[in-house]
Amino acid sequence: MAAGKGTRMKSSMPKVLHRLGGRALLQHVIDTAGQLQARRVVVITGHGAEQVEATLVHNDHVQCVRQMPQLGTGHAMQQAVPVLADDGVTLVLSGDVPLIQADTLSALLMSCDGQHLALLTLQTPTPTGYGRLVRNAQSQVQAIVEEKDASPEQRQIQEIYSGIMAVPTRLLRGWLARLDNRNAQQEYYLTDVVKFAVADGCTVQAYCISDAWQVEGVNNPVQLASLECAYQHRQAQRLMLDGVRLADPARFDLRGSLICGQDVEIDVNCVFEGVVHLGDGVRIGPNCVIANAIIGAGTFVQAFSHIDGEQQGVTVGQDARIGPFARLRPGADLGNEVHIGNFVEVKNSTLAKGAKANHLAYLGDATVGERVNYGAGSITANYDGANKHRTVIEADVHVGSNSVLVAPVTLGAGGTIGGGSTITKDTPAGALTVARGKQTSIANWQRPTKIKK
Ligand code: UD1
Ligand code: CA
Repeated sequence: MAAGKGTRMKSSMPKVLHRLGGRALLQHVIDTAGQLQARRVVVITGHGAEQVEATLVHNDHVQCVRQMPQLGTGHAMQQAVPVLADDGVTLVLSGDVPLIQADTLSALLMSCDGQHLALLTLQTPTPTGYGRLVRNAQSQVQAIVEEKDASPEQRQIQEIYSGIMAVPTRLLRGWLARLDNRNAQQEYYLTDVVKFAVADGCTVQAYCISDAWQVEGVNNPVQLASLECAYQHRQAQRLMLDGVRLADPARFDLRGSLICGQDVEIDVNCVFEGVVHLGDGVRIGPNCVIANAIIGAGTFVQAFSHIDGEQQGVTVGQDARIGPFARLRPGADLGNEVHIGNFVEVKNSTLAKGAKANHLAYLGDATVGERVNYGAGSITANYDGANKHRTVIEADVHVGSNSVLVAPVTLGAGGTIGGGSTITKDTPAGALTVARGKQTSIANWQRPTKIKK
């Protein structure tokens, strides 16, 4: 169910599209449903339907149905049942309850067993706002009463309905047809199916869990931030139990997936996005942002480095040293033992083993050979205002400081470029090439003096 408005987010974006751990709330729920090998995943959209549906195009097993207008959770399910097969079980999930776990849902499906109505419930000292589980003297579930319809005694009940249920589709279809909206909110409540199940002699199972975060919903930015925190905490625990050494799990953010080898160390305040691989013995200094990158074994990424491969990716070989304050952009492909120092930007360039660019430099659309030393302040002028061109720097070239390499251009192997050169033509191998104004000196130079008034 993802049709609700989410008024309390006070946002122009539909609630279920707000992100948690870098993924939309709704996407978390869809991915969890995917782990259960559901025959079909149906998303009920309504508020902001076009925007929500547009984000789902990559989920080819997902089908959307629209609920217009939104007249309650029962009304939402009425829109979905026409596309569900009678011989199946329907698992109702909320698009704004992102941290529900697949094993909990499997257990709920077991207790449904293809024939019962199974409700996921939570025992909580703070039940305010939720539907309460009403049981009879024999402790059998009789109904779910919404907060707004509950008597003062019912409001004392501490077992709440999570919004998640598993129900045989054939039975659900019949019960939904009997709903009405005679209640405090004049909505069609899905929760009223409990009364019908009891009346029909169908067993109602309550599967009660105790970890509240699994069923916590997002209604406002405060809850979103607190679930983000819970989510990050769990990811950090999982990585540490796999051997990753986090300096402080409370200052670690993973918005995607991180695959680590052995003896990986991550200092504080690092953010990982997309898919990142860190090889054995990789160390990441404090305050780094790393997205869509593969970092080879033994490499040290020093403080404040920003690595973002976007679609193309970034690859760093083994025993390289990146940063501090380095920037690696899409298509940076660095070999083993490469050094990239402070304020160096690398984009769409290949650096072979042992190449170094240690200070204040730009390498864009370049192919750099082994052991090249690329001097401070040097840049590849790769863009002529219309097209990008390549710079080739062959093995063992030494580029002096503050050089401008105007692409397309090739610097021959083993050559030396004098500092401050603007190189517009290919340079021969092994030679010293200098391309700058010749140095001259004027003897006994008289500086201007101040004019007296
Ligand atoms: C619902 C339950 C309540 C439970 C709580 C758990 C009902 C009547 N009540 O209440 O017992 O404790 O969830 O969080 O079901 N939605 C639609 N269409 C609608 C209305 C809602 O798709 O017309 C979707 C929302 O987007 C959301 C979910 O259904 O994903 C729950 O809606 P919400 O309004 O939050 O229900 P509650 O009133 O919190
Ligand atoms: Ca809710």
